[in-house]
Amino acid sequence: MLRIEKLYKKYNKRENALDGLDMEVAKGELYGFVGPNGAGKTTTLRIITGLLKPDAGQVWLDGQKVGQDMKVRKRMIGFVPDFFGLYENLTVMEYLEFFAASYGIYQKAGTVRSHEVLELVNLQGTEECFVDELSRGMQQRLCLARALLNRPCLLVLDEPNSGLDPRTRKEFQFLLQNLQKEGYTILISSHILSELSDMCTSIGIINQGKMVLQGKIDHIMLSIDSSNPLRITVLNKVEQAVRLIRSNPQVERISVDENKIAVWFSGSREEEARLLSQLVEAQIQVVAFAREQNSLESLFFHLTDNAKGGGGV
Ligand SMILES: Nc1ncnc2c1ncn2[C@@H]1O[C@H](COP(=O)(O)OP(=O)(O)OP(=O)(O)O)[C@@H](O)[C@H]1O
Ligand SMILES: [Mg+2]
Repeated sequence: MLRIEKLYKKYNKRENALDGLDMEVAKGELYGFVGPNGAGKTTTLRIITGLLKPDAGQVWLDGQKVGQDMKVRKRMIGFVPDFFGLYENLTVMEYLEFFAASYGIYQKAGTVRSHEVLELVNLQGTEECFVDELSRGMQQRLCLARALLNRPCLLVLDEPNSGLDPRTRKEFQFLLQNLQKEGYTILISSHILSELSDMCTSIGIINQGKMVLQGKIDHIMLSIDSSNPLRITVLNKVEQAVRLIRSNPQVERISVDENKIAVWFSGSREEEARLLSQLVEAQIQVVAFAREQNSLESLFFHLTDNAKGGGGV
């Protein structure tokens, strides 16, 4: 759906805000774009939406190379920016009908579509309310409704959660997950990883203008998990257990602390299960047997630790 290759952007004469950024968002994904403050998220999203021109690099949308042609972008992308100006003295309905008209959806069709998008974001009943009197969470949803007006194939949201309380945040996440189920491809940025990792299907980590890790959450979690040790606790026959574990060809390393055994094991989940049954069959009492839980969070901190001159994978 969206592909970016070698994007560069420099503001004034400062360092590169984007330094050869690559990104790929497949159709139907809920893609989380995460990185610390100043990493280049807003710059990237503004280039995707055509609000900013890159110094070099290329953007493809749905297989088409896009130049600075705003028409293509306007038809295909719905954008919720990080700061949205609202319009005083407009009701919710006037606000949406105004934007519908800017997309060429006029009169009756504009009214019908405005009602539809209000329903999509759970704002039915607010039609006559003034926009500037809505709560922050409702304004955020209205902004999302506006971005949905012309049925874009890609929704782009820049830090939509900032300034929202935890419950409103959760509701907003739920809304995005529903839109994804309806077939929208969504690209959302945040500087807080945990906000995205719960709900996204894919994730891209940006640091100092470069993509340092991207892929499907499941794959990333699996690769982190498999580099973690198996933690095994036995109640008896520790030495026999250690011997048995050591004899397994998938075991790379082992460390023993009394009755707790840490095993760096490169086998599959099935081979893991087989190792457990071998221990049990040898009459060893196993009370714990589990992969140490990741964390994606610690990987994120490692990849974005600029004090260490990090940034590479
Ligand atoms: N208009 C501008 N003029 C000069 N420098 C800018 C401008 N906008 C952004 N920058 C710089 O470019 C870099 C990337 O900024 P950007 O806003 O894209 O980061 P971000 O990842 O969105 O950060 P945040 O999480 O704080 O929103 C930063 O170093 C920032 O200071
Ligand atoms: Mg930003």
